Amino acid sequence: MSTLKWWQTAVFYQIYPRSFADGNGDGIGDFQGIIEKLDYLAELGVDALWLSPHFPSPNWDCGYDISDYCDVAPEYGTLADFRRFLAVAHSRGLRVILDLVLNHTSDQHPWFLESKSSRDNPKADWYIWYDAPPNNWQSCFDGDAWTYAPERHQCYYHYFMKQQPDLNWRNPAVKQAMWDAVRFWLDMGVDGFRLDAVGTIFEDPDLTPHTAPLTLAELRRFSETATTPEDKALEQKYWREMFQNQLGGPGLHALMKDLRAVLDEYPGDRLLVGEDDDIAYLGDGADELHLVFNFPLMRTERMTPAHIRQNQAERLAQLDALPARGWGCNTLGNHDTSRIFTRYATDAEHAAELARVNTALILTLRGTPFLYNGEEIGMTDLIITDPGKLRDTMATWYYAALINDLKIDPVEAAARAGAMSRDKNRTPMQWTDQPHAGFCPAGTAPWLPVNPNDAGGINVRAQEDDPGSLLNFYRRLIEVRRQVPALVAGEYRPLHEATDGYVAFLRTTDAQTVLVLLNYSNARHELRLDVPGKRTARVCFSSARNDGERSLVSLSLEAYEVLIAELI
Ligand code: GLC
Repeated sequence: MSTLKWWQTAVFYQIYPRSFADGNGDGIGDFQGIIEKLDYLAELGVDALWLSPHFPSPNWDCGYDISDYCDVAPEYGTLADFRRFLAVAHSRGLRVILDLVLNHTSDQHPWFLESKSSRDNPKADWYIWYDAPPNNWQSCFDGDAWTYAPERHQCYYHYFMKQQPDLNWRNPAVKQAMWDAVRFWLDMGVDGFRLDAVGTIFEDPDLTPHTAPLTLAELRRFSETATTPEDKALEQKYWREMFQNQLGGPGLHALMKDLRAVLDEYPGDRLLVGEDDDIAYLGDGADELHLVFNFPLMRTERMTPAHIRQNQAERLAQLDALPARGWGCNTLGNHDTSRIFTRYATDAEHAAELARVNTALILTLRGTPFLYNGEEIGMTDLIITDPGKLRDTMATWYYAALINDLKIDPVEAAARAGAMSRDKNRTPMQWTDQPHAGFCPAGTAPWLPVNPNDAGGINVRAQEDDPGSLLNFYRRLIEVRRQVPALVAGEYRPLHEATDGYVAFLRTTDAQTVLVLLNYSNARHELRLDVPGKRTARVCFSSARNDGERSLVSLSLEAYEVLIAELI
């Protein structure tokens, strides 16, 4: 264990600042609010925090459109508040990584305002400009990827919204300016960055047009209605055809190496984790990003034992093949995806049990776990069906496209837009069963509606002293992970690979063999485990029974049980 870096042993917790805790009573989360909750986070047992963007932003994309990389959004506080937050977090043993959006800025960033002002200004080449759209590329949010700017009589490229122009990373001055911003935060003491949308930084230099046979709104609509395997395969093919030329262009690996070199100038093993699943961004395992997310694990409608085993086999083989051996990074949810409690509740009656089994999965697989705020109390999606209340621009635009272009009935359009909206998984954190779940004062409207299920026990206060709560399940499992070294450092070896109902694997170091059994079914299983030299499972954690030991020759696993045991 002692040779592992902090980010290999850490459990990460993602904070969505707008929705976490409102310290000044304006209905929007802020640093004062986060500071007040640091004791809660320390008690939860997590080691590191990832903050979604906290920078000044016009908020077309909820902070992912940044207008100043070296400041704090006024609604979240000041730089002094940020410094205080960082100091208190560090004093509690919590590391902090920030969100770094490299691909694009806000169209209100001074760099862009200058760039678009004329064709001969000093920043004229900081963004990607053409006299006319050179191809049919699309914005992944809506419409064309090229927007005309009358000031220069030219159009600029944007993979996301037109309010998020892509920076021209082939211009060394852009790199210089962005690395200055990176150093600004590193100098202040932040522990690293989550890199937003890495794959979008470089495009196909030949500007090859896309060949998808439909518009983006039509494709989204097709995705909603595709149910047969043939249609689902076709849907994937269309998505690929539509965007493949705008992603993963040449230059990215050199850029990541360059950024890594900046981080490595600093003491303390500062971290880079990429929002991408491509292991290639780890370079040789030690010279580009430290981590990329294992998104293929979460890209499934059913979290089944077969899917998990196949994912691990592929993923770990890829990591192991890197010259410096890569380190994994597992997650099931974030601010862009449906909440895990909702998404994997394939058996609605047992949603709570499945949420526990899935949590245990993330905390016992090989690799660094990332949890998303609210998962620990079982927050669920809240689908907003009043289009006027949507804050996710992607969804408001989709609503408009459904009505205007596809002539869909407004009630259905609202339901579809609400369901695709990321607002559903960004609602305020539920602290109590008081008004607005204790997120903000009773008389203030929160920026997004609070999920009314806070009243039914889905809140921190109701769960913190209840030994049987999901919150205490998280706390206990994080604690077990800390106490059982093989769960962090051990190799992964699957067992019973032909079974449907449960996942079984070993995590092994020279000193310790740990068995993990995760029962994804509502049935009891009687198992016989043949592990050379081992006869007994000494229970470290069981969600079903308080027994000390079980025999490997005849071990019963209860319905939806999570069992972690050291083998002796
Ligand atoms: C990333 C973020 C997402 C954002 C997008 C554009 O995917 O996670 O929330 O909309 O990048 O910055």
